[in-house]
Amino acid sequence: MSSSSTPLRVLALALLIACVPGEDRSTAQIEQRPGPGDVHSYARPDTARVTHVALDLVPDFAARRIRGFAALTVQRAPEADTVILDARDLTITRVTGGGGVSLGFVLGEAREFLGSRLAVALPDGDTTGSRVQGTMRTDTIVVHYETSPDAAALQWLTPAQTAGKRLPFLFTQGQAILTRTWMPTQDSPGIRQSYSAVVRVPGGMRAVMSAENAGNEGERDEQGRSVFRFNLRHPVPPYLFALAVGDIAFRAIGSSTGVYAEPSVVEQAANEFAEVDDMINATESLYGPYRWGRYDILVLPPSFPFGGMENPTLTFATPTILAGDRSLVALVAHELAHSWSGNLVTNATWDDFWLNEGFTTYIEARIMEAVRGKDYADMLRQLGRQDLQETVATTDSADTRLRLDLSGRDPDEGVTSIAYEKGSAFLQTIESVVGRERLDAWLRSYFDRNAFRPMTTEWLLEDMRANLLQPGEAERIRLDEWAFQPGIPSNVPPVQSRLLAAVDSQVARWNSGTPAADLPTAGWSTHEWLHFLRALPDPIATARLAEMDRQFRLSESGNAEILHSWLVLAIRNRYEPAFPALDRFLTSQGRRKFLTPLYTELMKTPWGRTMARDIYRRARPTYHSVATGTIDDVVQWEAR
Ligand code: BES
Ligand code: ZN
Repeated sequence: MSSSSTPLRVLALALLIACVPGEDRSTAQIEQRPGPGDVHSYARPDTARVTHVALDLVPDFAARRIRGFAALTVQRAPEADTVILDARDLTITRVTGGGGVSLGFVLGEAREFLGSRLAVALPDGDTTGSRVQGTMRTDTIVVHYETSPDAAALQWLTPAQTAGKRLPFLFTQGQAILTRTWMPTQDSPGIRQSYSAVVRVPGGMRAVMSAENAGNEGERDEQGRSVFRFNLRHPVPPYLFALAVGDIAFRAIGSSTGVYAEPSVVEQAANEFAEVDDMINATESLYGPYRWGRYDILVLPPSFPFGGMENPTLTFATPTILAGDRSLVALVAHELAHSWSGNLVTNATWDDFWLNEGFTTYIEARIMEAVRGKDYADMLRQLGRQDLQETVATTDSADTRLRLDLSGRDPDEGVTSIAYEKGSAFLQTIESVVGRERLDAWLRSYFDRNAFRPMTTEWLLEDMRANLLQPGEAERIRLDEWAFQPGIPSNVPPVQSRLLAAVDSQVARWNSGTPAADLPTAGWSTHEWLHFLRALPDPIATARLAEMDRQFRLSESGNAEILHSWLVLAIRNRYEPAFPALDRFLTSQGRRKFLTPLYTELMKTPWGRTMARDIYRRARPTYHSVATGTIDDVVQWEAR
């Protein structure tokens, strides 16, 4: 170590020394191995690193701005005189140090999706509030700021956009690099920070965050606002900081699980997610303890742009999974699985996004297998494999690699089935070579050994070679081909779901003229329906679509996944009786996964383009910026 004393090594050593022996690693500062640079952050953590964020925030619903301050704990190398933060569309009003002294700051020019570099001069000399630990020095800087009404992480909903129609609603979405639009910090997944917050909201509203409630019993401040306090002692990447404010009720499921949702939704949600304790137990017995305390689910209003978001202690979820029959709860298994893959062991940069999503998709199916059985999980796996094949067939070869190169691009471009399904297929391949028992034992130790740390593809392969694989196995798996080459390696194990094979036989009968009424669909699950709808031929005669619609009432389906697949067919075949349902679906929810294929399909014909633009003109104001960011391109929307 002494032979080279680059700042990196000095810092790594200092952090090791600073680590209190015996203390939970998650609460102490953990040792850092020099990670790869993150091209999506301005931060220079090797010289000054944010370790804790303490927020004091006031959302202003009329102005659509959050105002307040972020007190950042900064650990700095002795020679560091500046800390670099990420900021996008923020107005910084002042920055102070310990004792209230003003600190100089420079907000750089804004770049597309990255925002601006915010450089803050660190206090020098002996200032109140600074502590010296080993060779490291810790300071607190306080950034006073407000957000912009267009902050990409924030969606401000009018009362009309909520279920209750009484109060407005606000929620945040941090992943991948949007947290910098609602707070100034080092917004990189490799820079873990604990956080605490005080949130002051209008009376009658509730604030929830991805953290422990720390005294939320009707406290009021001098201005009469309701005060909510939060604390997350585990350090997490800032993309996991999350807040929602609205007319939010709570209902317990188990002793440490529950749902938050608008009052009219909370009952149904609690019933839909009744299996969540079973899911946690199943995951713990496979991969070790759940380390985050409570696990709650917040059901958002329908404009939430994702299916789910794994905010720690509080998964954010779309209401479109409330099918009434628990048929779409694999999404909960997925977000829960991130409590290990993603939130404990985290992609160091967005180039390694597959480490979060591929492991999670694999574990999602394992959880569902434990809770619902192998036949059920095999359906998920086969549908996933189909998504993968479809994506590989339609994506630039370079972007079909697991480890991506997203420099100069929005990390959102890395969010494809490659990360999810090729990542999962990689683990299925390893399982096929080493066996489930050894893979599970290794996974468990991998989460233990790497808990609360960033991970790269290279470190992962190193870890597998050291702790999992026996001689010859890396070659049989084709480890490097899977990790770094495009396409799907030919040693991927086939998945064949018994139940979906039976559906294939029914598709064949339907193709040879059997009427819909004669198909044995009575016991079909959502996944069998999805497979059926995907497997139908192209094109389909209107009369046969009408017959199917009459028989199965597909245009009236209350299951968003089934309705979505049906509407894709309806557009493709210009089946006009389904168009009112299409209009309703596109204007009543904003989940990007549903919007993108529907608008894309509409854009393929002149009549569809007219329809797409007419619907989008009405719907766009209700969508989240994450969704409009994608759909603006799909429909070639020009602000007019
Ligand atoms: N973390 C993702 C959502 C995400 C990814 C947000 C990248 C922003 C950038 C979440 O865990 C997820 O994968 N959600 C899926 C559901 C899942 C069952 C595949 C979704 O939203 O569709
Ligand atoms: Zn995920």
